[in-house]
Amino acid sequence: MSTPTVHEQLDSALAAVEDISTANANELADMRTQLLGRKAGLLTTVLRSLGGLPPEERRDVGARANEIKRQLESAIGRRESVLAAATAGGDTLDRSMPGRAVWRGAMHPITAVVDQICDIFRELGFTRVVGPEAETESYNFTKLNISLDHPAADMQDTFYLSPGIVLRTHTSPMQARTLENYEPPIRIVVPGQCYRRDAWDPSHAPVFEQIEGLVVDEGVSFVDFKAAIDFFVKRFFGEETTTRFRPSFFPFTEPSAEVDVQCHICSGSGCTTCKYSGFLEIMGAGMVHPAVLENCGLDSERYTGYAFGMGPHRIAMLKYGIPDIRILFENDMRVLNQFVE
Ligand code: DAH
Repeated sequence: MSTPTVHEQLDSALAAVEDISTANANELADMRTQLLGRKAGLLTTVLRSLGGLPPEERRDVGARANEIKRQLESAIGRRESVLAAATAGGDTLDRSMPGRAVWRGAMHPITAVVDQICDIFRELGFTRVVGPEAETESYNFTKLNISLDHPAADMQDTFYLSPGIVLRTHTSPMQARTLENYEPPIRIVVPGQCYRRDAWDPSHAPVFEQIEGLVVDEGVSFVDFKAAIDFFVKRFFGEETTTRFRPSFFPFTEPSAEVDVQCHICSGSGCTTCKYSGFLEIMGAGMVHPAVLENCGLDSERYTGYAFGMGPHRIAMLKYGIPDIRILFENDMRVLNQFVE
C-alpha cells in the first residue's frame, strides 16, 4: 500500500471534522492526539513535510493545512465544552426543561403609599414618628378635647382592651404625646394602624391606616397649613390638581376643615368615583385647638399650629381606582402583582 499523498491526508482530516460533533470524551481525546498532536499528529506531519514539496505547491498546501487545522481546533474545542457542561450537570439534569420563575417580593400598595406621603412631607421638614396602638382614654380622647360623654366620643366606636385602655381610634393621640415631650418648633407625620368597631364593607374596615400631621410653632397660620397641603396634593396626585377646603368640625381643631382634591378620574367634570361632585375628600384638618395646647402644657397665647389626619387606604383607593377597601386586605396575588415594579 502506497503512502497517502498530502492531499489525501488533508482530505481525511477534513472528513474527521464531521465526526467531532458526535464524539464521546474518549473518542474526542484520541482525535485530538491523532489529528493535532504536536509530535505525530496528522496536521503536524503534513506541515512538517511541506519542505519536501515542489516550491509551487508549498504555498497552497500550507494554506489548506492551516485552514483545516483551525477548523479542527475550533470543532474539538466546542465539543469539549459541550461534554464538560454535561458532565458538570450529571446525568439527571434535563437541560431542556423550562426554568422556574423566580418569585419576587414587593411592597404592599398601602406601605408604598404611606412611604410616598411621608417622603413628600419630609421635604417640608416633617419628621416621621410612631406611637403606641394601645392607648389610654386620656390620650385618645380627653387631652384632645374630646370628653368621654361628648357626642364626639360616641362617633368613635371603640375597642376597649381594659378599663381606661383602648385600641387607638385614630393617630391623633400622638399630637398630645409629642406636644408633652418636645419643645416647638414641632413638625411631625405619624403613620400607624387604628381600630374601630366597624363592620367590613366596601369603604370600612375595623383596622386601617392613618397618617397624622402636626405643626406647632410661634406664628403658624392657616395660610401655612393651606400651602403645605397644596404642596402635598400637587406632588401626590399631580401638579394640575386643585384643592378645596370645606368648613367642618373636630373637637381638637378650631377652625376645622375637610380637604377635598379635584377628582383625578374625571378631572372634576363628574363621575361615579366622585359621585358627580368633581371632588374627593382626602383628610380632616384644622388649626390646633387652644385647649389641646393647654392640656399638653403649652402656652396657647404664644404657640399656634395646624393638624391633619388622612387615611392611606382611602387615598390608595382614589389613586389606583380600587372600588372596595377589602381588596387591600385580602392579599390576592392577582391584585398585588399589579403593584410589583
Ligand atoms: N382624628 C380624626 C379622625 O380619625 C382625623 C383628623 C381630623 C385628624 C382633623 C386631625 C385633624 O389631626 O385636625 O377622624
